[in-house]
Amino acid sequence: MLHPYGKGPPCTSMHLNAVAKRVDKPRPLIPMNATLESLRQAAKNCKACDLWRTGTQTVFGGGAAHPKIMFVGEQPGNQEDLEGKPFVGPAGKLLDSALEEAGIDRSKTYVTNAVKHFKWEPRGKRRIHKKPNAAEINACRPWLDAEISVLKPHVIVCLGATAAQALLGRDFRVTQRRGELIKSTLAPYIMATVHPSSILRAPDEETRHAEMQRFIEDLRAVKKFV
Ligand code: URA
Repeated sequence: MLHPYGKGPPCTSMHLNAVAKRVDKPRPLIPMNATLESLRQAAKNCKACDLWRTGTQTVFGGGAAHPKIMFVGEQPGNQEDLEGKPFVGPAGKLLDSALEEAGIDRSKTYVTNAVKHFKWEPRGKRRIHKKPNAAEINACRPWLDAEISVLKPHVIVCLGATAAQALLGRDFRVTQRRGELIKSTLAPYIMATVHPSSILRAPDEETRHAEMQRFIEDLRAVKKFV
């Protein structure tokens, strides 16, 4: 059997158990005195869960070096996986429009995801988004913690339930507490709102418009942090 990091000697089962403990989380990959760039480089080699096998590449966060606002989505989509950048596909375009409407310059913020590989299943020739499970979210968590600790944003905005539950707890319900500025030990404030994809999936134009306005209102509440 191959070494889980893809290099080194073949594994015996004892060795494998020891290594499995180590690769359960990407902590061994996180450099001492990390900078954003050293994290980005190290994350390219992350094999802490199996998603590296099917994703094209690690999609690390990107944006300002000293952002006041950090956005956290769920996981990269098809286009993000191919381009290696977060929120550049349809959901990203919607996020861009909402940020513009809210008067927030995306280039002054930092955008990342709870999970940094694209999880998908084939449907014909298409790769369809598949929700990451708790083990995958946990396996990726040290990268998110490292981004937060290097960047020290004033507010973290969780886009959707996956990010919200990762940062605010499994019982957190975006439907009940969206738009609230919640004090946290991770950053002075965390806020959760809907995922931009949910607006794209609205059943009709009227609902889509109403959902977009609510989303813009949530974003306006963090504009003061820029
Ligand atoms: N959805 C996300 O949660 N993140 C992305 O980067 C793209 C789509």
